[in-house]
Amino acid sequence: MTTRVLFVCLGNICRSPSAEGVFRSIAAQSAPELDLVIDSAGTSDWHVGAPPYGPMQQAARGRGYELAPLRARQFLRNDFDRFDLIIGMDRENVANIERLRPTGSNTPVKIFTDYAPDSGMDHVPDPYYTRDFDQTLDLVEAASRGLLTSLNR
Ligand code: 4NP
Repeated sequence: MTTRVLFVCLGNICRSPSAEGVFRSIAAQSAPELDLVIDSAGTSDWHVGAPPYGPMQQAARGRGYELAPLRARQFLRNDFDRFDLIIGMDRENVANIERLRPTGSNTPVKIFTDYAPDSGMDHVPDPYYTRDFDQTLDLVEAASRGLLTSLNR
């Protein structure tokens, strides 16, 4: 059975493309038996068509994740039908996602840090503002492992 997972942030150039790249890499390595479709999107249209933010790409590349081929797109109402699980990075993302939920859709929407309870964080801070790209990757790696565990059960 295929599981379709969509990661969502504001711009789709820092946190959610990192989540897409890191989760894809960790899943391929530690759970190759899972049949996954993995994508990311932004609630805004500010960076549509753009590659991930340069400093974010550099930090990810330093840990062996290549984000360069990814391109930003905007989250759409029909993503509720195209994915089995939608994961926002913070509460604002989740509120903006929920605003587009079609009547009758039961697709779960989570916050990524739900899968990293040991982090003590309730959201993934935006590194576009914090400039802490390593914090982003630490949280995204921990939550990716937690998400894999939850999908493997
Ligand atoms: P992201 O970060 O939501 O993690 O992609 C942002 C990137 C750009 C902007 C905001 C957040 N921006 O204002 O352009």
